[in-house]
Amino acid sequence: MTTSENYKQQAAEFAVQFVEPGMVIGLGVGSTAIHALNRIAARYAEGLLPGLLAVPCSLSIETAALAAGIPLTTLEDHPTLDLTIDGADEIDPHLNLIKGGGGALLREKIVAQASAREIIVADASKQSAVLGQRWPLPVEVLPFGWGAQVAFLESLGATVQLRRATDGRIITTDQSNYVLDANFGPMSAPAELAAILDARAGILAHGLFIGLATDLISAGPDGIKHIQRSAG
Ligand code: A5P
Repeated sequence: MTTSENYKQQAAEFAVQFVEPGMVIGLGVGSTAIHALNRIAARYAEGLLPGLLAVPCSLSIETAALAAGIPLTTLEDHPTLDLTIDGADEIDPHLNLIKGGGGALLREKIVAQASAREIIVADASKQSAVLGQRWPLPVEVLPFGWGAQVAFLESLGATVQLRRATDGRIITTDQSNYVLDANFGPMSAPAELAAILDARAGILAHGLFIGLATDLISAGPDGIKHIQRSAG
């Protein structure tokens, strides 16, 4: 296992201590969150998490959770979740995030907004002083009129790419939508940008998670760090 992978595993497994019997939790997506899923599955199999139920943030995580024996539910049956453990692509000092590198941003945001506690797990390299320094902003758009969304994002100052696989095929999300990767560079006002994107028809979700993360657990050369977002 690489050092980075090791840090991801440390952060994710640390977060699992907050999962308690009887909780209804969200299962995040990505190479970090999958370590939490595996740990949760192991604890559930050992009988340490009776009554646990989970809502997966993607179809692939649904498959992984079922294979691992984690009992699943839906937001229809459980509209509010106790906590979610998920990864992130970039994290600022206020615990605002860029997410969606794996294309699951819409379901991840729905689950995050339904969660009392949103625990982000990451290796320490994901942290940056200003969002947009390390990662373009994923934007999930309806296939109808996607070109108009490219023009709109460019009018806001972004350089935009339609996400494609290496063979040139357009990648679609679990909702059969497209993803535009919008490189804004360092964002001086991410909350304002999020509000502009929220108001645009045809943009179904964007990867700016503002004020949603309650906790960050990061692991790196200095060990595991747990910080919680202060109120207000
Ligand atoms: C999935 O769409 C993303 O939001 C992931 O949570 C994010 O890309 C982090 O993934 P890794 O843990 O694989 O870096």
